[in-house]
Amino acid sequence: MRSLLFVPGDSEKKFAKALASQADALILDLEDSVSPTVKEGARRTVRAAIGEARKKKTRPRIYVRVNPLDSGLLEADLDAVTPARPDGIMLPKSRGGQDVMQLSTKLAVREAESDLPDGEIAILPIATESAAALFNMGSYAGASRRLSALTWGAEDLSADVGASTNRLTDGAYTDPYRLARALALFAATAAEIAPIDTVFVNFRDREGLAAECDAARRDGFSGKLAIHPDQVATINAAFTPSAEAIARARAVIDAFLANPGAGVLGLDGEMIDRPHIKRAERLLEAAKAAGIG
Ligand code: COA
Ligand code: MG
Repeated sequence: MRSLLFVPGDSEKKFAKALASQADALILDLEDSVSPTVKEGARRTVRAAIGEARKKKTRPRIYVRVNPLDSGLLEADLDAVTPARPDGIMLPKSRGGQDVMQLSTKLAVREAESDLPDGEIAILPIATESAAALFNMGSYAGASRRLSALTWGAEDLSADVGASTNRLTDGAYTDPYRLARALALFAATAAEIAPIDTVFVNFRDREGLAAECDAARRDGFSGKLAIHPDQVATINAAFTPSAEAIARARAVIDAFLANPGAGVLGLDGEMIDRPHIKRAERLLEAAKAAGIG
């Protein structure tokens, strides 16, 4: 999943627009973009939207961002949306692997009730929304087979800390949020799931988005959250491996296939060994997922 587009759960109009975008996944939101007074209506809208998407031959993956475990709203969220068979649930304010296990149990019960395959619904936690959560980032590894990806957020974290801002005047994140970003990258990698970069909220600033995408891809993120359909093309382009990168990855793998038993080789004047094979395999997987290569 390169691009994951948020859609407020109470907006049928935005859902139709989002479905027509090229986003790899839609995240139908029942949490912060939906005011408390209209949550019930949003649940019905989201349930119908999932049904509508599933009728299409080709469609983005559909995730639902539910309310947090301790919100008092989660059970009703899950009751409303799981029978429609979403591909996954995004868990906000996740405090660690324990929270994922708890959600997983709730999903297992609903899957059984709705006659859905056991373990089918994936989980994507937002892992950095409180200071306490940052101390549990290692706990996602092995927490659940449902884990498909992990992402981070700076807005709720800065509110938790009481920071006046999380960005410097040039747009760069301040140190506490750079740490959260790096921990999310390592937590996802350690759990062998996809690291997804957080939202870029200035949706009219294409250059700023492109720069943030480049930095994310460079560091190892495999996709990015979006809040506006106009952001999708930029994100997809940034996280689609280039023809040059695909050729290079194939060359690395071919070099080792041609030299079975070799631990280290030289390729175009550069040393390549085990980590290079791993990186090449990842890149080819990403290319395949993007429909190329
Ligand atoms: N999904 C689908 N359609 C969207 C969209 C989204 N996330 N964001 C905007 N659109 C639609 C608008 O409805 C509008 O449609 P129209 O031309 O038929 O009127 C069109 O795209 C252009 O939108 P624009 O006028 O540029 O922006 P806006 O002021 O209407 O909306 C936001 C700005 C931020 C409110 C909107 O982008 C949004 O709701 N984003 C998602 C917010 C969210 O889910 N946040 C939670 C996670 S942080
Ligand atoms: Mg939030």
